[in-house]
Amino acid sequence: MSEIPEHLLKRSKAAKSKASGNEAGQSSAAESPASESTDVAAASAGAAEVPTSPPVADLPYLDPEPEPERQTPEYIAAFNKRKRIPFWAMPVVLATPVWAYGLAGTLQQPMVEDPLVEEAAEIYTAAGCSACHGAAGGGGIGYQLSDGEVLETFPEAIDMIVHVARGSSAINGEVYGAERADGNQRISGQRGNMPAQLDALSLEELELVIYHERVNLGGEDVSDERGEEWAEHVREGIESGAETEIDLEFLLACANPDQTPGATGELQGSEETRCPGPLPVAEAE
Ligand code: HEC
Repeated sequence: MSEIPEHLLKRSKAAKSKASGNEAGQSSAAESPASESTDVAAASAGAAEVPTSPPVADLPYLDPEPEPERQTPEYIAAFNKRKRIPFWAMPVVLATPVWAYGLAGTLQQPMVEDPLVEEAAEIYTAAGCSACHGAAGGGGIGYQLSDGEVLETFPEAIDMIVHVARGSSAINGEVYGAERADGNQRISGQRGNMPAQLDALSLEELELVIYHERVNLGGEDVSDERGEEWAEHVREGIESGAETEIDLEFLLACANPDQTPGATGELQGSEETRCPGPLPVAEAE
């Protein structure tokens, strides 16, 4: 008796049709009188036309449970269908922003303006230096700066920084700078008036414009370690957005007394304060 009895198949069929609202199953159940009381009896009878099912046994099917799927709200179904990121891909997903950021960095590198070039040139023009010293530093009302000229006067940037900050009239008639190639030293005011920049520029801007005159126009070599460190210092200064007021006393404490009137040089190589310009030679090594 491995076969499913015919009546059971019919009953299940009838139940299904009832569940789907088909009246046929019900009417067939009504037609058949309650002659057969149990399934067992029906099975033993083995008749093909056995009533499909007794009403009592049918009760559970009268009110079929609504199918669960139909109740699933749209959004839950949508969530279930949605493709999800497999767990093993998570490291990739999480690392993507970092990677993208890095890529964007490399892609933009050539487009980003270097303050040591663009901003330096802008300040050189905006502060009026170019009007008196020439756009390329070739000289005019003021001395020529290009072709190493300004480097002859100021072997170290710090002394040039002081001179530009306080201007020429503050030390009128005094000797300043190093001995130049022709054996002479500059005498302040001999050529004209170099206007003070104390109130015109921030310390960061001053150092940047000095960098421009010495490196971009004057041809100073900053490819060594000391020069690179200074370039980075200047770049960081301007990129920080800081606008430090120029403190002449501080600058004089950094400058070389042999070349800058009023300088003490006592802060040179100080551990607490970084003087503008490249680090002292001994320190950079
Ligand atoms: C109004 C014109 C004028 C402007 C603007 C000007 N300078 Fe000068 N600069 C001069 C004159 C004139 C001298 C020479 C002064 C003297 O005789 O002592 C000079 C001297 C200098 C020197 C000394 C050079 C040497 O070899 O002795 C430097 C460095 C310098 N200027 C840098 C600058 C910078 C940087 C700026 C812009 C922030 C600037 N100057 C703006 C006219 C000007």
